[in-house]
Amino acid sequence: MTNTAPRYDRVQIILHWLIAPIILAMIILGLFMVELPKQSELPAGEESVRAFYFLLHKSMGISVAFLIILRVFWRLTHKAPALPDTIGKWQQKAAGAVHGLFYLLMVAMPLSGFMQSIYSKYSTKFWGIKLPRLAEADQGMREFYSQVHEYLAFALIVLIVIHLVAVVKHKLAGSAISDRMSLKR
Ligand code: HEM
Ligand code: HEM
Repeated sequence: MTNTAPRYDRVQIILHWLIAPIILAMIILGLFMVELPKQSELPAGEESVRAFYFLLHKSMGISVAFLIILRVFWRLTHKAPALPDTIGKWQQKAAGAVHGLFYLLMVAMPLSGFMQSIYSKYSTKFWGIKLPRLAEADQGMREFYSQVHEYLAFALIVLIVIHLVAVVKHKLAGSAISDRMSLKR
C-alpha cells in the first residue's frame, strides 16, 4: 500500500536528519567534556585533553548553527504538513508546542554557547581559525551564559525524550506519522 499522506518536504527532511544526530552528539560531547580534568588538576607531565574537546564542541556547535539558521528560514517560508484528523486536537497542539520549543532551543543553544565563549579568557576558534575577540574576558558574564547554556541543555534533553516517546508510540500504534519525516520515498 502506498502512503499518500502529506509529508515534510525534501529540504525539511534532509535538514532534520542532518541536524538531529549532530545535536545528540553535541549533548553527549558537552556532558562528557565538562567532567574532564583541567590541566591544573592533573599531575605534572600529564596533558589535559579538555581543551581539545572544548574546541571540537565549539566548532561543531558553530557549524550546526549555520544549518539551524537555514532550517528556521526554510520552516518560516514552508509549512509543516497538516496532521490527519485521527490525531486529537490536544495532541496536535502538544506536537506544535514541542516543535516550536525545539526551534527556540535549536537557536538558543548555540547562541548561549557562543556568548559564554566570547566572555571566556580563551579565544574562540572555529576549526582552528582564531575568531576575532568580540568582548573583554568577563568571568561573571561567562558564568551567567554557562548557566543558561546548561539549563537549556537539560530542557532540550527533556524535549528530545518527549519527542522520541511520541515517535515510538505512533510507530507502535502503526500510524504513518513517522513516515512524514522518513528519508525513504
Ligand atoms: C546545538 C548546539 C549545542 C548543544 C546541544 C550544546 C550542548 C552542551 C552541553 C550538554 C553542555 C554541558 C553542560 C554542562 O553540564 O555544563 C555544553 C557545555 C558547553 N558548551 Fe555547548 N552546546 C551547543 C553549542 C555550543 C556552542 C556553539 C558553543 C561555543 C561556541 C558551546 C560552548 C560550550 C562550552 C564552553 C561549554 C562548557 C560549559 C562550562 O564549562 O560550564 N556550545 N554544551
Ligand atoms: C533520533 C531521534 C529523532 C527521531 C526518530 C525523530 C523523528 C521525527 C519525526 C518522525 C518527526 C515528524 C513528526 C510529525 O510528522 O509531525 C519529527 C519532527 C520534528 N523533529 Fe525530530 N526526531 C528525532 C530527533 C530530533 C531532534 C534531536 C530534534 C531537535 C533538536 C528534532 C526536531 C524536530 C522538529 C522541530 C520537528 C518538527 C518539524 C516541523 O514541524 O517543522 N528531532 N521528528
